[in-house]
Amino acid sequence: MVYEIIGSKEKAVAIIGFGTENIKELAEKIMKQHKNVKSVLAKTGQREGVFRTHPTKLILGDKNTEVIHKENGYSIKIDPRIAYFSPRESTERLRLSKMIKAGEKILVMFSGVSPIAIAIKKVQPDCKITCIEINPEAVKYADENVKLNKICGIKNICGDVREVKLEKYDRIIMPLPETSLEYLDLAKKHCKGIIHLYGFAKDPKEITSKIEDKIIKIQRVLPYGPGIYKMRFDIEI
Ligand SMILES: C[S@@+](CC[C@H](N)C(=O)[O-])C[C@H]1O[C@@H](n2cnc3c(N)ncnc32)[C@H](O)[C@@H]1O
Repeated sequence: MVYEIIGSKEKAVAIIGFGTENIKELAEKIMKQHKNVKSVLAKTGQREGVFRTHPTKLILGDKNTEVIHKENGYSIKIDPRIAYFSPRESTERLRLSKMIKAGEKILVMFSGVSPIAIAIKKVQPDCKITCIEINPEAVKYADENVKLNKICGIKNICGDVREVKLEKYDRIIMPLPETSLEYLDLAKKHCKGIIHLYGFAKDPKEITSKIEDKIIKIQRVLPYGPGIYKMRFDIEI
């Protein structure tokens, strides 16, 4: 993927992939071709740090890179320089949403600007969702996104999942593919149903070999690198 566009018909930001050549020319071409693109950023490295954001630099256009992204009938306000958001994951958000049953009590760990919770609520309004995210700016966006979509029943908490007081949940979602296995014991203690754990692997066995509980489904989500996939592991507790 050379670039991706996040935003709406009114205002969007294009993000050029890391290592792309002739960035300036490409930025001009993108802005000419997509009139809604008001800023072009280029990734200057891989996702980094606890917040999992890409380091970027502004190549062309407005330095205000906050946009409202539209997908699957809801809106996500986001500045991609400040918090994690991937428009490529919209299909997975929808797929996951369709698995939720009415009345469930759900925990989304590592919730970012809360797109998973909002996607779930759009499909299954009768559930109660707690979201925990360590990046305070992401939590501000998460609160705005809940209001923007006029949703009730999502509680966004700012903190480290290891330090927040947890309850018991019917379902726990763990979208931190780099290190979610490190938090699996914590999730198991607080789950009485299904855990959806995300991970990166070439072969699912790299992850399944580290899980003792019953895995009821493995879903390939997206390609991540040469031969590497983001995968979802549905674990029955
Ligand atoms: C891969 S992003 C996913 C964000 C969101 N779930 C989404 O799908 O857009 C992982 C998120 O986990 C957050 N995070 C990392 N470690 C955390 C921790 N120990 N407790 C809470 N949040 C954490 C990061 O700030 C980041 O926003």
